[in-house]
Amino acid sequence: LADGTRRILIDTDPGIGTPRADVDDGIAILLALCSPVLDIAGITTVKGNTDVHSGTANVLRLLRDAGRTEIPVAKGCSRPIGREVPEIVERRLSWIPPAAEDAAFRTSERGVDFMIDTVMGSPSKTTIVAMGPLTNVALAMIEEPGVCNFIDEIVVMGGSIYASGTRPRVEFNILNDPEAADIVFESGVPITLIPLDVTTSVRFRKETIKPWAEADSPLIRRVHDLTVDWMEYRYIVRGEEDVGCYFHDAMNVAYLVDPDMFISVDARIVVELRGEHTRGQTVVHMGASEAGHPISKVLVGVDRARFTRMVVDEIATQFR
Ligand code: RIB
Ligand code: CA
Repeated sequence: LADGTRRILIDTDPGIGTPRADVDDGIAILLALCSPVLDIAGITTVKGNTDVHSGTANVLRLLRDAGRTEIPVAKGCSRPIGREVPEIVERRLSWIPPAAEDAAFRTSERGVDFMIDTVMGSPSKTTIVAMGPLTNVALAMIEEPGVCNFIDEIVVMGGSIYASGTRPRVEFNILNDPEAADIVFESGVPITLIPLDVTTSVRFRKETIKPWAEADSPLIRRVHDLTVDWMEYRYIVRGEEDVGCYFHDAMNVAYLVDPDMFISVDARIVVELRGEHTRGQTVVHMGASEAGHPISKVLVGVDRARFTRMVVDEIATQFR
């Protein structure tokens, strides 16, 4: 856009608000709400961290509490294109989503249709900020291939380049819909991939987010408490090495707001679809320039202090 702002559509599987579900989509959305350079054209939800109905309720409540109900939200796909990965059943047994979310600001349009209409209905190109399984994005491309000409970049939190230590070779968003990821990575639309290798290089702990506990905003104090719950769940139930977590999806927003804080390489990204034991893995051919295959940008490094400061300080101070 002329004034240096960037039009974005956020596609997300927001667990924030659902017990035992990742809060990082919510952190990313709050960070995006803080940025004067991001023009949020809309938010679509997808099944991932939680079911799509709970996810939609979670994001509507977040926007209502942030005073940003002008941002339209559309409910997307409730399951992947390919075979479903067994859910973490405990979560489904423990929580009943609140009554139908406030319809005041949820569009009735299907998420995929909303994505197509929002992207193709603007004179400016749109950046898709993909923070969950890529089901909605892939189906938009299938239903309306022309949508690709109206997208300037898809920033995807997903994949894993090198497994090491506690970092798996397969990552949740891609694993939960490998066919969708393959369609998106092969689409020819410029992709920036933000893999676990870089998102797990910045750990957030209780003391890191303490400013949120002292924030003026009741919303941010609630986000603090939900984040601590998530950290403790990961430590107690999932056996993580310490009480902390990663804000994977917040890196998508940080990259758009301040790309200089990252190091990137060109690479060809392929998704394993058929491996009996490797389905959903991403294979990243670094520096590849194989003719006829899309070349993507992959973030491989971040200024950790700068990223931490942006996430903690912006969210602690920008809400009332
Ligand atoms: O693997 C991390 C990704 O899976 C994040 O987007 C998190 O929110 C979950 O969707
Ligand atoms: Ca996510």
